Amino acid sequence: MCRSITFPEGCRINTLILKIHMSPEYWDQPEVFNPKWFSPEGKEGRNPQAYIPFGSGPKSCIGMRFALMEAKACLVSILRKYRFERSPDTQVS
Ligand code: HEM
Repeated sequence: MCRSITFPEGCRINTLILKIHMSPEYWDQPEVFNPKWFSPEGKEGRNPQAYIPFGSGPKSCIGMRFALMEAKACLVSILRKYRFERSPDTQVS
């Protein structure tokens, strides 16, 4: 749902990003992590503002690419040292 709101000049606006990320308006079963949501097909038709961990627009995070690269580098160093197995308790949907 889109609404047009006029804000007075100088007014401070806070966005509850978690609320957007957990909104059933954008996500089926928002409490479940589904990696397929982030595939090109999964993103199709979803409002691009529905997932904004690094903010959005001209003031968005300038470290986003660096942070994502760091996360991948961390994952690689963990995977080089350890093997992961699914626990018998893991529920696969
Ligand atoms: C997982 C890691 C990170 C997350 C989730 C994150 C998230 C965010 C968010 C939500 C904002 C505010 C965007 C907005 O106001 O719309 C922001 C701003 C910013 N971030 Fe990050 N950030 C991360 C890592 C980094 C790193 C590694 C750097 C620097 C190396 C960085 C530098 C900045 C700066 C300078 C701003 C302010 C940009 C501005 O006001 O123009 N961030 N970040």
